[in-house]
Order: sequence, then C-alpha cells, then structure tokens
Amino acid sequence: MTASIIDGKAVAAALRARIAGQVQTLPFTPGLRVVRVGEDPASGVYVRNKDRAAQQVGIDSATLHLPEETTEADLLALVRRLNDDPAVDGILVQLPLPAHIRAQTVLETIDPAKDVDGFHAVNAGRLATGQKGLVPCTPKGVMHLLAAAGATIAGARTVVLGRSNIVGKPMAALLLAADATVTIAHSRTRDLAAECRRAEILVAAVGRPGIVKGDWVSDGAIVIDVGINRLPNGGITGDVDFAPASERAGAITPVPGGVGPMTIACLLENTVEAAIARRQG
Ligand code: GUN
Repeated sequence: MTASIIDGKAVAAALRARIAGQVQTLPFTPGLRVVRVGEDPASGVYVRNKDRAAQQVGIDSATLHLPEETTEADLLALVRRLNDDPAVDGILVQLPLPAHIRAQTVLETIDPAKDVDGFHAVNAGRLATGQKGLVPCTPKGVMHLLAAAGATIAGARTVVLGRSNIVGKPMAALLLAADATVTIAHSRTRDLAAECRRAEILVAAVGRPGIVKGDWVSDGAIVIDVGINRLPNGGITGDVDFAPASERAGAITPVPGGVGPMTIACLLENTVEAAIARRQG
C-alpha cells in the first residue's frame, strides 16, 4: 500500500480560517500573552510564529520577552499580573525556561482558565477524568488530523510512542476519551517494534529521528509523526522513517508539514475557547 499524505498545512489553514471567522463574530477581542525568557534560538522562532498566527486571526497577541537572568520570583509576579488582567484570556510561557527557574512551579501559577497550553495539573486532571478543560495543543492537533484522515478511532488499536506530559500522556487520554484501545509505549518497553506493529493508529512522539522503522508499521495503519528533530543541515525530520513507512501505511503525516502547523492552530483555538469560557463565567 502507498500511503495518502495527511496535509497538516492545509488542515491547519482551514482551522485558522474557521477561527478567524469565529473571532469576527465575538463581541470582544480575545487576548493572548506569550512569555519568553532568555535567548533559546528555537524558542524565538516558535514564539514569533505563535504571535503572528494569533494576530492574523484577530487575537490581540503580544510577546513579553524577559532577560535570561530574570528570577523565578519576577516571572511568577508577571504570571500573576497576567492572571489578574481582564484583557488577557490566554497565557503561554514558552519552554524551556532557564535552568534556575522551576518550570513546573511557573506552569502551576498560571490561572487554569487562561492555561492555553493545557499544562496545568488542573487541566491535565480534567482531561484524565473526562471533564471539560483546556487540552494541550499538539495532541489536540493530532485529533484534528485523525478526523481529517477519516480515521475510525472508537475501538481501534492505537499505540502512542512516548509518555511526556506535553504530548504522550494527553494524547493517550484523548484517544481513550474517543473510545480507542490505547497502548503507551516508551523507552523501557520490551519490544517496541512488536507493539508498534499492532497499531491501527500509531502516534510517534519520542523525539528521536527515524526511530520508527518501515517494518514497524502494519499494512494500512494511520501514522502520525509528532517528532520535530533538527538535522545538522538545519532541516527537520520526524520520528518515523518516512519513505519505507509510507509504503505500508494507509495514511501518514510528513515532517515538516504534518503535526507542526496544527500545534499553533490549536493554540489559537484554545485561546478563543478560553476567552468564551471566561466571559460565560
Ligand atoms: N516548547 C516547545 N513546545 C512548546 C509548547 O507547546 N508550549 C510551550 N509553552 N513551550 C513549548
């Protein structure tokens, strides 16, 4: 089988257009603040892209860029100010933070109602217990892509490769909430290849270039590659060995142009959701 390619750029563009239309109908302007600390170069690119995408759909977005030597206390004070600012609906603190700042402490200080990354324990707990809340952007984007690919999730054997708080765990929770049978595989899994071969839907989110070999993919499986791994030449590559995998898969996401564009689109979606939910009380 030769896989159809799941076009994340197109799906993300359609989602952004829908959000832009929705923002126009609102009697208020949703507000987003993106906080960046220090000079991590990749973070600079991500933050600029998030800010620009938000402005393009009509969100009032701004980046607050603090110096590397900012203290944890000063960052927490900024987060509290944003929590209290009625014009701010979404707060995103870009990771990684400098080593002298405890990221978890910062994330737990964000008002869960404004936590558009969905990283706060309250939102993680809501997702785990099937309650409404803000859902992490990357796994939410994967669910959109699965819908766009026409995947039947209920009852499907799904394998999530990776167990991070940002992708693997919320991904598994979303698939479970959609009635999939979910396996979480990771670096200590005894036979990764065998687990992956059982998957009708395989989501790879480990951050290791090409770890998923072509013969780990079963015939006709839907393969979602969350990996964004930087190559020495500056390009990026996924966690899946794309060419051989696409000879077996039914549908597959490319890297770049698959999951990546969806993450930002879902950040915009979360910001609008947060804005509406806050104003409804
Ligand atoms: N760093 C890399 N990805 C992300 C993300 O989705 N959110 C935040 N806040 N930081 C990140």
